[in-house]
Amino acid sequence: MASQTQRKVPVAHTITNIGGTPPQEAMVDKIVQAFTITPEYLEQITQHFLSEMRKGLNQEDQTIAMIPSFVEGRLTGEEIGQFLALDLGGTNLRVVLVDLQGRGNFTTKSTKYKVSEHLKTGDVKELYNFIADCIDSFLTEHNLDYGTADIHLGYTFSFPVYQSKINRGLQKQWTKGFNCSGAIGKDPVILLQDALAKKHVPVLVSALVNDTVGTLLSNAYSKPETNAGIILGTGSNGAYIEKMSNIRKWTGGATSSDEMIINMEFGAFDNERVILPVTPWDNKLDRESINPHKQIFEKMISGMYLGEIARNVLLELVDRTLLFEGYSSKELNSQWGFETTYMSTIEADQGDSLKNTHRVLASSLNIPNVSEVDCRIVKRVCDLVGTRAARLAAAAIAGIVRQSSSVQDGCDIGIDGSLYEFYPSFEQRIEQGLTELFPDVPDINKKIRLGLAKDGSGVGAALCACVAKKMAESKPSQ
Ligand code: BGC
Repeated sequence: MASQTQRKVPVAHTITNIGGTPPQEAMVDKIVQAFTITPEYLEQITQHFLSEMRKGLNQEDQTIAMIPSFVEGRLTGEEIGQFLALDLGGTNLRVVLVDLQGRGNFTTKSTKYKVSEHLKTGDVKELYNFIADCIDSFLTEHNLDYGTADIHLGYTFSFPVYQSKINRGLQKQWTKGFNCSGAIGKDPVILLQDALAKKHVPVLVSALVNDTVGTLLSNAYSKPETNAGIILGTGSNGAYIEKMSNIRKWTGGATSSDEMIINMEFGAFDNERVILPVTPWDNKLDRESINPHKQIFEKMISGMYLGEIARNVLLELVDRTLLFEGYSSKELNSQWGFETTYMSTIEADQGDSLKNTHRVLASSLNIPNVSEVDCRIVKRVCDLVGTRAARLAAAAIAGIVRQSSSVQDGCDIGIDGSLYEFYPSFEQRIEQGLTELFPDVPDINKKIRLGLAKDGSGVGAALCACVAKKMAESKPSQ
């Protein structure tokens, strides 16, 4: 099985004519102004992004953290064997058994486990006990018994970690709705290994991997010209291959290769709000989030947040009696009540009556008075929020490509995450942004080859565990 799957990408249908009253039209124009990023503005954002990347490479504690991953060099394609992967930080916890067969081929078996809100915000020990139980039941379910040898596991931990070895690091912060106590400043590998040891689960955590790094590796397994791995899902981030000589802050001594994967943690880009088009609706979301003033870029481009931005806009329209005759509903009034998946349905809706949009508003959100003009306004708002997200993601991708100067030679970029995979026209909107950002490069979208790296983080973690195992075997004294 190759990492690429055929997919049917839904298309967004944009409407321009709202057909509203003058006050409705005037307010919609204002919203359009606030969310539109012109090509010139997009270029400025990209330039600032690039300069922030360079700051992060030069010094510790910069806004874009640019964390060396300790994954050096490139894959050979010869990585083979059975490995476990654990994926924490997306919508679900996943345990994956990966059978690497070489040259981009692999099979996987995986089980998803729901992490309750209580576990996401309680004591971290409870979370790790739960994870150890999940791994234990996975081993039983799949009849995995390796005799006396421990099974090697790659741990995809999709939160900012200052890494100090391929299997060591200290957690910097939580993101995406997690906020467990007792984790910051601790090593996630040790917390997991201790919980496994207590339950006598025969698993060795041999690699700690960000999901972006995993995505890069899994894409590279079948496409050697891969330069970056990007996640555009619940949260957002990127990783790319950097020359050691450009990582000026590196103090880790000699490396076996002149390149290393950098986990950028670009979700924090512009936390100081120098350049991004932050609107009052973004500020409301940020203020009410569990990590105010942090991850501002992530909050403008990720699946966890887009629905909430749109909800804030819609509520302002309701309060001005420009939408739904001034009535909201309990659902629309609740934080996170307008899900990003609703936006996908609405963006893909077409035809004059916008039936699906009406259904979401009237049935899922229980709004009493929904007119056709209302549906068109809501659709326009979703379009604006979704398009801005994709264009900002394009700025980040362009920044990576410019820094690694790979545009003329061309490169593959593996992308995983629900927004990229399912949100209507997200990919086309990114490609449009890239076309504007590289006006001198004909066929830019053939040079920068974006591709879905589905479940990249699981396979990537297994690849990383495989690399780590080889490294450990070749350096027996460590
Ligand atoms: C985390 C990153 C992660 C990204 C995508 C962000 O919230 O800080 O480490 O890569 O989400 O999952």
